[in-house]
Amino acid sequence: MITKTATVDRWNPSPHLIAKAARVIQAGGLVAFPTETVYGLGADALNPEAVSKIFTAKGRPQDNPLILHVYNIAHAYQFVEFNDAAMNLAKVFWPGPLTFVLPAKDIVPSITRGGLETAAVRMPDNVTALSLIFTAGTPIAAPSANISGRPSPTDSDTVYRDMNGKIDFILDGGSVKFGIESTVIDLTDEKRPLMLRPGSMPREIIEKELGMTLEVPDSVSKKRSPGTNYRHYAPSIPVKIWRKGSKLPADCAYMGIDKPKNVDMKKAIIFDSLGNYARGLFSGFRKFESENVSCIAVQWPEYEFGIAEGLRDRISRAAGLS
Ligand code: TXA
Ligand code: MG
Repeated sequence: MITKTATVDRWNPSPHLIAKAARVIQAGGLVAFPTETVYGLGADALNPEAVSKIFTAKGRPQDNPLILHVYNIAHAYQFVEFNDAAMNLAKVFWPGPLTFVLPAKDIVPSITRGGLETAAVRMPDNVTALSLIFTAGTPIAAPSANISGRPSPTDSDTVYRDMNGKIDFILDGGSVKFGIESTVIDLTDEKRPLMLRPGSMPREIIEKELGMTLEVPDSVSKKRSPGTNYRHYAPSIPVKIWRKGSKLPADCAYMGIDKPKNVDMKKAIIFDSLGNYARGLFSGFRKFESENVSCIAVQWPEYEFGIAEGLRDRISRAAGLS
């Protein structure tokens, strides 16, 4: 298979290119596209054969369900049972990096929801993504567009490196806005909302809107979010945690906000904000990997709020700590 890439303007994507990509989706093919979080690997969520190609291209375990990307709230209504909590949050936070797990309607094929009774829905905050979903006329199932287990792609070159020859089309809409994936919450029981995956939408602003705390799933309900059971986001070289004030492990490349005393600036990325750290984490992993360094030390974000929780989650997974 030949993988074609087309560059689109992020605010004004060419209707011709969107239509071309939408035809690939309608014909059961695979299209990678930008979202505000990471690049997604999309297929028609209602076509089981098309969805199965996603699992093959990524090497993803079949029991790990996919997110249905929709173009507005009414569209999402066709695929899951909304409740008041989900409705309120969707009105406030969509389009945006917040995914809801809700009871699935029968129209959602079993393979898309990993055999579960629930399905995940999200309206991405990206004009290219929304135009593609709208034009295709179907929800688009899309995990991150990387080989399973690898760091998620934040630009189209990275998608190409992982997916060349395995997918039909890549829409290149430049670098993403957030760099880590959406926050996934389970609202199946609106009296007991669960945080399944911390991400780009901060916990505290969701909780404020809900008027409730998001509980972390216990070991039983954890089985309901199969994706969180796998090792993830990891480069092929060891990732070590560095805490401010400690000694940097010898010979490691470094990423973080503070500058360790013994750091070699030729192998370091210093970010000037937490947001930029999140945006640059996965691409930093891949950059150092290609430079054949023997390990990567990353600063543990000691902050309470915002994207810090999502960042800590990705860092601890990459380091093999959870
Ligand atoms: O930002 C994002 O969410 C990106 C972009 C492309 O939208 N997508 C993404 O998809 O990160 P993926 O497949 O890499 O992660 C989806 C997560 C997984 O942990 C999966 O297990 C969980 O959502 N999930 C999906 N459907 C679920 C369901 N019905 N019940 C529980 N967890 C679910
Ligand atoms: Mg992923």
